[in-house]
Amino acid sequence: MQILVLGSGGREHALVWKLAAHPDTTVFVAPGNGGTELEGAKQVDIRADDVPGIVSFAKKNRIDLVVPGPELPLTLGVTDALKKAGIACFGPDSYAAKLEGSKSFAKEIMQRAKVPTAACRIVQNLDEARSWVKKMGAPLVVKADGLAAGKGVVVARTEDEALKAVSIMLGDHAFGDAGSTVLLEECLVGEEVSLLCFCDGKNAVPLPSAQDHKAAYDGDSGPNTGGMGAYSPAPVLPESAVKATVEATVLPVLRVLAEDGHPFVGVLYAGLMMTSDGPKVLEYNVRFGDPECQPLLMRLESDLAEVMQACIDGRLNATLVRSTEKTALGVVIAKEGYPGSYEKGALIRGIEKAEEDPSIKVFHSGTKRAADGTLLSTGGRILCVTALADSLALAQEKAYAACGKIEIDGSFYRKDIGDKGLTRKRS
Ligand code: AMP
Ligand code: GLY
Repeated sequence: MQILVLGSGGREHALVWKLAAHPDTTVFVAPGNGGTELEGAKQVDIRADDVPGIVSFAKKNRIDLVVPGPELPLTLGVTDALKKAGIACFGPDSYAAKLEGSKSFAKEIMQRAKVPTAACRIVQNLDEARSWVKKMGAPLVVKADGLAAGKGVVVARTEDEALKAVSIMLGDHAFGDAGSTVLLEECLVGEEVSLLCFCDGKNAVPLPSAQDHKAAYDGDSGPNTGGMGAYSPAPVLPESAVKATVEATVLPVLRVLAEDGHPFVGVLYAGLMMTSDGPKVLEYNVRFGDPECQPLLMRLESDLAEVMQACIDGRLNATLVRSTEKTALGVVIAKEGYPGSYEKGALIRGIEKAEEDPSIKVFHSGTKRAADGTLLSTGGRILCVTALADSLALAQEKAYAACGKIEIDGSFYRKDIGDKGLTRKRS
């Protein structure tokens, strides 16, 4: 089987690692990174969002299955274009991908599906937005409708902060079209958790729960990032509660999308707030999360390509998806300055030493192999050091011991990944 993975981050390294584990598979990756190269994947010099380039490569090279990592190719319609060319793609079509690409679309689908979520007003006009901010009062969450590289959400503690956010989005057009529609949302309180499900259009089979850490620094302080670490399972959503949560937050959405003639195939990721009234959906992503994917795939025992093919063929069932009971925990090492501007080209050393412990896998996010064989940083997030162990406490201990063996000048990582889960377990 020939598989083409799209993307260049830690999630994509994990996907390539898992898919390449099958002996009869050849994996290509566009464009990949220093880690995907180590898995023996053939690096293809095409951007993940170059849809015509991807389709033409897939046709020429007789690719059987395309696996998009990030959302952009999906919202740009890579699945639709590949389907026309007769090539299977593990991801939703561009209509269903709007669940992530447009927050107002997602809200409308959630309302039709009667999925629990924050109360919300959708506005396009600045004066109207200002008057709603005053009516709704603070705290209030202001969201740009479209993809805004993780910067389109402002959790406003005061009315002034909310007014400022709406004038940046609707007055200054800081996010262009992505911010020409704005959502004003009730501010939910609770612990966040990620629930990722394989979907075949009708059925959803969950992976175990996972918890991301979006803030840059310890204690959830500092700016919002792509994610600084994750572990699975997350004690805030225990295995015993997963089935009911899928029934409340994922299956109704699959029904509505199927009614609309766009059955959802791929991974549907529900970002949940565990409130005192039960789980409520903050957002949907239409792909694996990064870094959640890394610990989740370390736990997955099934053949990933087989599960993906079952989703595409509409024959997914729970027996196909098996994960070990163990806990996996990943810590992201990032370059100082991230998520703002940062320097590239830092020398990375110590990965082999970290991986001497067989329970450790170091996934590369922003790395490349230089001509002289050295490994250099190319991104803000550089590595995700992931451990698989019998308990959360042990996984945490092992992941941090491994981080201590890695040397990258001017890098940092959070020291508290896993603490929230340990605190909850103790109480
Ligand atoms: P989103 O891109 O919608 O997931 O929002 C990014 C982050 O903003 C989430 O991970 C939450 O931490 C926060 N957030 C989003 N919506 C809400 C809400 N309604 N109430 C409280 N926090 C929120
Ligand atoms: N880890 C959050 C995301 O992938 O969107």
